Amino acid sequence: MANQTLHRATHAIGKVELPGDKSIAHRAAIFAALSDGRCEIVNFPDSGDPRSTLHCLRQLGVTIEDGDQSVIVHGVGLRGLSAPDGPLDCGNSGTTMRLLSGVLAGQPFSSELVGDASLMSRPMDRIAAPLRSMGARITLDDNRPPVRIEGTDGPLKAIEYDLPVASAQVKSAVLLAGLYADGETTVIESVPTRDHTERMLRLETVSIGDRHRIIVKGGGAIPARTWAIPRDFSAAAFFLVAGAITPNADLIINGVGMNPTRAAALDVLTAMGARINVSRERTYGGEPIADLRVRSSALVGVRIAGATVPNLIDEIPILAVAAARADGVSEIRDAAELRVKESDRIKWIVQNLRSLGSEVDEHDDGMTIHGGAGWKARPVDSAGDHRLAMAMGVAALVTEGHTTIRDADCAEVSFAGFWTQLRTVTGQ
Ligand code: S3P
Repeated sequence: MANQTLHRATHAIGKVELPGDKSIAHRAAIFAALSDGRCEIVNFPDSGDPRSTLHCLRQLGVTIEDGDQSVIVHGVGLRGLSAPDGPLDCGNSGTTMRLLSGVLAGQPFSSELVGDASLMSRPMDRIAAPLRSMGARITLDDNRPPVRIEGTDGPLKAIEYDLPVASAQVKSAVLLAGLYADGETTVIESVPTRDHTERMLRLETVSIGDRHRIIVKGGGAIPARTWAIPRDFSAAAFFLVAGAITPNADLIINGVGMNPTRAAALDVLTAMGARINVSRERTYGGEPIADLRVRSSALVGVRIAGATVPNLIDEIPILAVAAARADGVSEIRDAAELRVKESDRIKWIVQNLRSLGSEVDEHDDGMTIHGGAGWKARPVDSAGDHRLAMAMGVAALVTEGHTTIRDADCAEVSFAGFWTQLRTVTGQ
């Protein structure tokens, strides 16, 4: 558990190379494994979480070759997975555990999914409930992992499922189980969440008002193909804020995923006054991407609440850092989901911002941040949570003295090389 110590930055200049999108990487790996043949996944990130998905797929009998910046997955078809020889280790990755549970619910063999201490404390009833109503036999330990799934003889039952929580992981788990169901499974969402699964599997979506019905047909096949992964907007967000709050900053971040169900933080930062240029908007791997440039900015407070929250949920730790550097008061609400992420992110953001010198009010579903206070270095804690570690690394750039971020190497689960790049652009 290595710490990182950074000092106040006099500049942030250069080009940032982002990893491939974590959410898309998990899905590409799973869909490639279930496809009918050899698939190349271009720009597969070398980060811990997507690697956990590859590891589990290997345990399920899928051959995966590691290349330079890409992986080759030899798809076994929807029915070609084999029984693992032990528990499937999902590491820190909730997406691995929840999406694979959807796949494993439809298999003829039994399986068990486990993870690290953080993942073992996260709620899994949200996937177990709909999967059980499809006929899957799943047991949990007080609603938490291990997730134990019994093999099933026949197809699962197709259901229509109204998402009770705005979660792309739950949506995707049900849609993946729907591949093993007898008929059409429909997931209904009234608050849009990231739509990579439906884009990548080209699922039919019918929208009436703000209700979206996503439909998957059981028993089909996934054709083998090349998957191209855009660079991760969620990783870009750390450097967008680093550029906005550091003096003498000019950062270039190319090829960034701009899917609207992911990139709402860009609108928030722009509303706060961040000088971000978006150029060369184009499509890559079926997703919108663009080149971004950010320069030092004078930020003002903002309110983040309502239906936009799922579209920036992973960016809230770093948006909170931006809000604390802004002029005025910012409010983040409707974000109670943050309490069941890799850590209780509301509690830890509040604690860390307060220890640097900000005034922050904690709410059940968010926080009120009184911006503009000067920060003095104090040790801050990542709580073993990659996004907190990176957010506090960026905060260190505008903190007087040397700030130590405890247990900072957890950043590697979503952004291998983050610390090196942050140091390089700020000359430390
Ligand atoms: C993810 C969905 C989100 C997000 C997570 C990745 C995904 O979680 O926080 O980092 O890839 O589907 P929820 O769907 O649980 O909100």
